[in-house]
Amino acid sequence: MSNHALENAARALKNARCAMAFTGAGISVESGIPPFRGPGGVWSKHDPEKFEKGYFKRHPDEVWPLLKEIFFDMIGRAQPNPAHFALAELEYRGKLAGIVTQNIDSLHQAAGSTVVHEYHGSTRRMQCMKCRMFFDSHSIPLDKLPASCPACGGLLKPDFVFFGEGVSSEVHRAATDLAKQSDLCLIIGTGGQVMPAGRIPYIVKKHGGTLIEINLHDTDYSYTTSDYFLQGKAGTMLPKLTQLTLE
Ligand code: APR
Repeated sequence: MSNHALENAARALKNARCAMAFTGAGISVESGIPPFRGPGGVWSKHDPEKFEKGYFKRHPDEVWPLLKEIFFDMIGRAQPNPAHFALAELEYRGKLAGIVTQNIDSLHQAAGSTVVHEYHGSTRRMQCMKCRMFFDSHSIPLDKLPASCPACGGLLKPDFVFFGEGVSSEVHRAATDLAKQSDLCLIIGTGGQVMPAGRIPYIVKKHGGTLIEINLHDTDYSYTTSDYFLQGKAGTMLPKLTQLTLE
């Protein structure tokens, strides 16, 4: 990828009135969290059907060990990488209004970002499917599964979106509002295959905004929608883009 494209993208970001970021699993790969799709992806090892809400309710003994292995153990060890820190720096320097992330790993917040709309929720909380109470995940022991409610003994479900489950309306609205206000969107580490999250960049585009895509491989956005496609690892590309933008 030529430096020319990077410089042009940095100029666009520097001149943006209101820039946002739309992130997916690819931004956390260099933190040790595998993506869902592509080589080594979670869905190449596990059947996504098991993470459908109805299946989970019918087979909690089967699904909870998978949830622990894939999400809680992995995310528990993960640290933000230079890509997360670059976005936090852009926000700190007033060049990024906020992030809409599909990730549930809380790494944007751990890196210092404060405006983060978690479209698919996060691993930070669990909710009892019987009494509806919420619990901090750190307070729930995962050595005895399925995880059960400390208050009523009901089945606990992690507070992130399963297949077949809707997105929380307040997050959906906040994310959509941010996209409508933005005249530039960084698309980082996502192919936008899952809706309605994947439509966020199209909202920015529809309102005349500019799209800068940073992805390891090309995606459905790359040759039809993105104005700039910076192909490479987010942990390498984003700090370079940030440095050129802030200098
Ligand atoms: N740097 C940048 N991009 C990367 C990197 C990297 N180091 N590694 C992988 N990628 C790219 C891949 O090329 C791919 O385009 O990140 C993208 C990851 O795509 P997915 O695994 O499909 O992740 P995502 O788009 O976030 O998935 C959306 O699907 O299963 C659901 O709820 C889940 O939130 C998730 C949603």
